[in-house]
Amino acid sequence: MKNMKIKEILMTEEEISGIVSCLADRINNDCKNCDKLTVICVLKGAAVFASDLIRKLSVPDVKVCFIKAESYGSAVESSGSVKINSYEPLEIQGEDVLIVEDIVDTGHTLSQLTAQLKKLRPRSLKVCTMFDKPTRRCTEFVPDYAGAEIPNEFIVGYGLDFDERYRNLPYVAVLDDCTE
Ligand code: PRP
Repeated sequence: MKNMKIKEILMTEEEISGIVSCLADRINNDCKNCDKLTVICVLKGAAVFASDLIRKLSVPDVKVCFIKAESYGSAVESSGSVKINSYEPLEIQGEDVLIVEDIVDTGHTLSQLTAQLKKLRPRSLKVCTMFDKPTRRCTEFVPDYAGAEIPNEFIVGYGLDFDERYRNLPYVAVLDDCTE
């Protein structure tokens, strides 16, 4: 297994907390007339962000669902083909839905996911991502809410992993060059 070291901290725990609060304020403002909201957390990366975000939402009735988006194709670049795995039936017809993601990179995952979820006829469907890498985009996908733009570097922490490690870091870090 490759051994990666943390090169620099890109975002502190305090900075992350401020960004999450700003996102929640924007969502709460946009949802001020909503009684209900269905949050769909895209595992695994978004689990940490979603758990912070949902506790700051002021919509009276918030339902939380978890899905796993599985990409097919190249192992290093997500492909245009995404399969949704859900732990329970996604009953979102007529619902206001917010997809919560950790990061938008090429945009393949979210453009596929939103296209598939729209077929379930939600009343509205928006996407909130904690991190956005617009320079990596190769689709037209634009998230409704994006916490922070990230340079084209490999980041870990706050839910994001390298080889399933580092998701637990409370900050976001850039990894150093890898060694075998
Ligand atoms: C990450 C992230 C998004 C996707 C974004 O998931 O959580 O779902 O990649 O990439 P894209 O914009 O290029 O499609 P990943 O496949 O790493 O799974 P994980 O969340 O379980 O770590």
